[in-house]
Amino acid sequence: MPSLQIRHINKTDIGLLCRLWNQNVEFDPVTEGILHEKMFGDPDFEQDLTLIAESGGRVAGFMQGLVRTTAKQERVGWIKLFFTEKKFRRQGIARTLYREIESQIKSKVSRIQMLDSNPNYLTPGIDPLYTEAIAFVEREGFEKFKDTANMVADLSQNLDTSENEQDLLSQDIHIRRAKSSDRKEVAEFLQNHWAAWVEEVDLAFENTPISLHLGYDNGKLAAFSAYDINNVGCGWFGPMGTDPVFRGKGVGAILLKRCLADIKRQGQTHAVIPWVGPIPFYLHHVGARVRRIFWRYRKEV
Ligand SMILES: CC(C)(COP(=O)(O)OP(=O)(O)OC[C@H]1O[C@@H](n2cnc3c(N)ncnc32)[C@H](O)[C@@H]1OP(=O)(O)O)[C@@H](O)C(=O)NCCC(=O)NCCS
Repeated sequence: MPSLQIRHINKTDIGLLCRLWNQNVEFDPVTEGILHEKMFGDPDFEQDLTLIAESGGRVAGFMQGLVRTTAKQERVGWIKLFFTEKKFRRQGIARTLYREIESQIKSKVSRIQMLDSNPNYLTPGIDPLYTEAIAFVEREGFEKFKDTANMVADLSQNLDTSENEQDLLSQDIHIRRAKSSDRKEVAEFLQNHWAAWVEEVDLAFENTPISLHLGYDNGKLAAFSAYDINNVGCGWFGPMGTDPVFRGKGVGAILLKRCLADIKRQGQTHAVIPWVGPIPFYLHHVGARVRRIFWRYRKEV
């Protein structure tokens, strides 16, 4: 094999990388737009950690690493996207790319995780159908610590919530789409209940229409649901949350259906409910089914 050259990614690589990604990562096809969102659109994107391996002038492999400060103020490293071109597999390319990234970030982070790089991620872990990837990460010393699932909801169902919303008005419960002027109140509400989601949900205000619905109990913000925050334009729902003291009134189901109705209006036939969460809730209210399983891996460094 000709010697391996490692270089940083450039914006001009996106077209070729997208084509190679779709040839090599069979269960998770992407568009150039999604690849752009995952790399240059990530607030923690680092060119020095987004590496291309070339052999004889041809792209042979790719790996994106990054470092984030989590809501708990921990510095954590992630390997976010990676593949090796089929012809170049089992020649140590993924290992070389990984070790280069690990050596650069090791002194800055307490651990490294695989793919579940919330809030900007493609998949919330490794689908074990990528058997070589499981072999690779376990060989590099990663340990599986959890699993999670993505569900899918069929949008051909009736998603109209107007009657249920009307019924709740007698209890002074109001549900509506967020407005720009709600931004600060939403951030404060999330900070109190789900600090990890503050930045993620704030992105909904950048979309037209704002991809966030809110539930108010006697004028007080008590619940929310969002979509099109990650993997924008792919029918991705979430996150959502209802203040524990306000649960059991049917507000979560309405908020969920409002988002799914918006996704349906975009022309999608199905919505993805990623990284669940309360499987019975989504099954019961919108007949969502588990479609993908992901294993989550981490390595203390
Ligand atoms: C996973 C993947 C990136 C591995 O790339 P690679 O360059 O072939 O991996 P390496 O040659 O560096 O392998 C390093 C180690 O991983 C393990 N490994 C990798 N492929 C393996 C295979 N086919 N069988 C068994 N072990 C394997 C081995 O322990 C290997 O070390 P060894 O050859 O000394 O035994 C590649 O198979 C791939 O692109 N798969 C599809 C895309 C994918 O799964 N992406 C991640 C999820 S989105």
